[in-house]
Amino acid sequence: MTLLKHDCGSCHGLTMKGGLGPPLLPDTLTGKDDQELARIILDGVPGKPMPPWRFELQPDEADWLVDRLREGLK
Ligand code: HEC
Repeated sequence: MTLLKHDCGSCHGLTMKGGLGPPLLPDTLTGKDDQELARIILDGVPGKPMPPWRFELQPDEADWLVDRLREGLK
């Protein structure tokens, strides 16, 4: 998962355990809505360092990333 590790890992940690951004581990995502997480990936979080990825990712790719995060990175 090059994209996750390189582009997201710079802030969320190489193993998604967190850094500048919060951890994106299966446990920490429990209880959060898939739609909401995909929307955050596409639009970013205004006023926070989380950037929008809408210009690089299609909506179905954001959904796919949420699925990968839910499984946890192997
Ligand atoms: C420049 C740093 C940075 C990069 C790069 C980045 N993020 Fe984030 N991300 C953040 C920060 C900071 C937050 C927390 C925003 C807040 O306080 O609500 C966040 C929040 C999130 C959330 C919401 C987490 C939650 O528990 O609500 C998701 C999902 C997420 N990022 C996924 C990604 C993905 C996938 C990528 C790569 C395509 C990525 N991020 C790249 C900084 C980053």
